[in-house]
Amino acid sequence: MIRDIQDKILELKKEYDICILAHSYQAAEIVEIADITGDSYKLSVEAAKVQNKNILMCGVHFMAETAKMLSPEKRVFLANGDAGCPMAEQMEPEMIRGIKMDEPDRKVVCYINTTAALKAECDVCVTSSSAVKIVKNMDADKILFIPDCNLGTFVADACPDKDIMLLKGGCPVHNAITVEEVEEARAAHPNAKFLVHPECKPAVTKLADYAGSTADIMRYAAESDAREFIIGTEISIKEHLQYKFPEKRFYDLSKRLICPNMKLTTLMDVYGSCKAIGGDSSFDVTEINMSDELIAKAKGCIDEMIRLSV
Ligand code: 13P
Ligand code: SF4
Repeated sequence: MIRDIQDKILELKKEYDICILAHSYQAAEIVEIADITGDSYKLSVEAAKVQNKNILMCGVHFMAETAKMLSPEKRVFLANGDAGCPMAEQMEPEMIRGIKMDEPDRKVVCYINTTAALKAECDVCVTSSSAVKIVKNMDADKILFIPDCNLGTFVADACPDKDIMLLKGGCPVHNAITVEEVEEARAAHPNAKFLVHPECKPAVTKLADYAGSTADIMRYAAESDAREFIIGTEISIKEHLQYKFPEKRFYDLSKRLICPNMKLTTLMDVYGSCKAIGGDSSFDVTEINMSDELIAKAKGCIDEMIRLSV
């Protein structure tokens, strides 16, 4: 059954000129039929190069919005319109405008997990894989880093010469992980390397052998000589790694590392979206529409991200 749906999606993709982008937190059956998979950084860089008329994002809303900003002439769709990232909605543009009024010489760096309206207030956008490099490369010493204070602390520790102001925001899934859970996983798997996403609390991230984005974690596990790994990010990454490297052993840091939003998208959503893009009115799809003005304002910080990360 899954194979049949996948085959249909592959046909529909060709017929309607659709490029499917899938974040690595998506289920294996979706990752398998995607044209491009990866972390937020890779998805945004690749979205700008897509040649197809239509882009279908399997991920969360801000990822589809970013793809639209980078390819405004394309039609961009989100495979499950209810999939949002709670972190992206945590701060209002007015609050950032207020801080900028008080401290005009402070540059605003936003994590890519933000709405376009918030990006429009910011100078540079970063992803977890590019944040340290970009902040180091910035020609500014005073920075406001939003919204994730855990990632912000990770960046501040790596850039001690910068004055980095943080606000209280973050990922409810990664932030919930405790030091006790790390100790339990370490005790259960004493020979395993512990790899973590910097959206976890600093006390958790500090205990890791390696901290990085979803793609960085996957690269580290692929290249390492170690045989066992505790994976401190959304559980789908452990599953993808275990499938790709059956000779190695991967363990969940915590069974609570499940992003309910990333899990909303099903293979049937992808199928239904492709049918709707092709004009079949029995199916619905969420199209991303943004005004030219908002795209122009918000895209600047993504262009800056790409410029500063090379
Ligand atoms: P990555 O940039 O590592 O893909 O992170 C996206 C995300 O939402 C992590 O929770
Ligand atoms: Fe957002 Fe956290 Fe889910 Fe990533 S894991 S999409 S940051 S809620």
